[in-house]
Amino acid sequence: MGKPNGHDGLSGELQVELEKLEELFTVNTEKLKQITKRFQEELEEGLQENGKNIAMYVTWVLGFPTGKEKGEFLTVDLGGTNLRICWISLTGIKDETSVEQHQFKLSDDIKTADVSKLWSFIAGSLEKFVKEQELNSSKDKLLHLGFTFSYPAIQDYIDHAILQTWTKGFEISGVEGNDVASQLRSAMAKLELPVKLVAVVNDTTGAMIASAYNDPDTIIGAIFGTGCNAAYVDKVRNIPKLKNNKEISKLDPDTPMAINCEYGAFDNARRVLPITKYDSQIDEQSPKPGEQMFEKMSAGLYLGELFRLVIVDLHFRGLFLKDRDIAKLKKPYSIDTSILSTIEDDYSKDLSKTAEMFKKDYNVEFSKAELNFGRRLAQLIAIRGARMCACGIAAICQKQGITRGHVAADGSVANKHPQFKKRWADALGEILDWSEEDKKKKDLSGDDDEQVGPIILTSAEDGSGVGAAVIAAMTLERWKKGVD
Ligand code: GLC
Repeated sequence: MGKPNGHDGLSGELQVELEKLEELFTVNTEKLKQITKRFQEELEEGLQENGKNIAMYVTWVLGFPTGKEKGEFLTVDLGGTNLRICWISLTGIKDETSVEQHQFKLSDDIKTADVSKLWSFIAGSLEKFVKEQELNSSKDKLLHLGFTFSYPAIQDYIDHAILQTWTKGFEISGVEGNDVASQLRSAMAKLELPVKLVAVVNDTTGAMIASAYNDPDTIIGAIFGTGCNAAYVDKVRNIPKLKNNKEISKLDPDTPMAINCEYGAFDNARRVLPITKYDSQIDEQSPKPGEQMFEKMSAGLYLGELFRLVIVDLHFRGLFLKDRDIAKLKKPYSIDTSILSTIEDDYSKDLSKTAEMFKKDYNVEFSKAELNFGRRLAQLIAIRGARMCACGIAAICQKQGITRGHVAADGSVANKHPQFKKRWADALGEILDWSEEDKKKKDLSGDDDEQVGPIILTSAEDGSGVGAAVIAAMTLERWKKGVD
């Protein structure tokens, strides 16, 4: 005999499952603090030597911009779905930057293509863009390029970057272990493009620098999108692993250096993360098991898949979508993370929008009870993600003694999930023990009315366009002074 129905019309069994999931996915304040403490230790370890979970790559972006940087630059951003090329004119005047851009669709097979296909596609797209925009150049007057390449890469110089491992589902052979700058240069040379690659930039550093160009309160650049990661600035004297670096020894120890944390790889050793069996499944079925463990629990590429895995698991155990054909839902990654926002944002009567979406896109009819269950599950997964994202930023702030400022954030989760910012801010306040007074502090220069507290998320300026251009401008300026 079935158990009686619970308050949401859930069968008793499903009610019990929901309670288990609540427990599994809830990260309380104490756990957040424990994660943050270990996070801080791993940030330190990464600064001591290479090869640690969190890599802490030096970026050769020597501090924040003045806001007066000028010039015209080409930028390329290899994103997850598009290749974006821009022509950016920096005037050195706030809000007077101009951007011309073109997005080239990345075909699905490019993520797993081979090395030559990748670079010839990028160089070919650049060639088209340069023609389309009628950009004037010659052998003596090359166009300067900032290349946003948002994957873990060791940089010995700013115009050089050795890819360590692909992340975010990319799996193109022949790139790992190689310098992506020189691979792009060769592809451009084949087409005789009049372009000089000046800087390779991570999206986090780009977001931080683009934002700081206009907003001097910027402290960190962070991406909460397909992947998750952050960059901040410290003095070179605080980066022990650079002690014997020849280039560094030419610099004043107080020189500021931007650091790309690559903290998606936090706790790959699984010491403190609250890993569920669903997270393990995502990891095992990914192209890189054992890597990017933190990212796999909190970034946009994976949250929809987590939701799908729970539902499919319950279905196979005879508890959910009983006697219905869930063929479409069985397909890995068939639930995009944006669906979690759609569900949470559904204020229609009886969640009818969500019901229609599942019927139309997945050919499955959800009962009212199942819709309620789905909504709570979407919340649990998104809340856990937002709270874990706060740990990374809290750890940087605690380590650096930062108590106020703007975290310039970009990425689909930060920009599109309706509750992300609020949940992230609540968790940050819990970790950093903000007083009631702190929590009420309104930052008038912030762009979001709901955001309060001494450290807030701001919407980053265009990191992969303007950010890469500002970094290229800073680099040219430095080269003029003879500093590599
Ligand atoms: C992944 C990449 C990292 C990037 C982040 C956000 O974690 O490894 O370089 O910053 O995604 O896009």
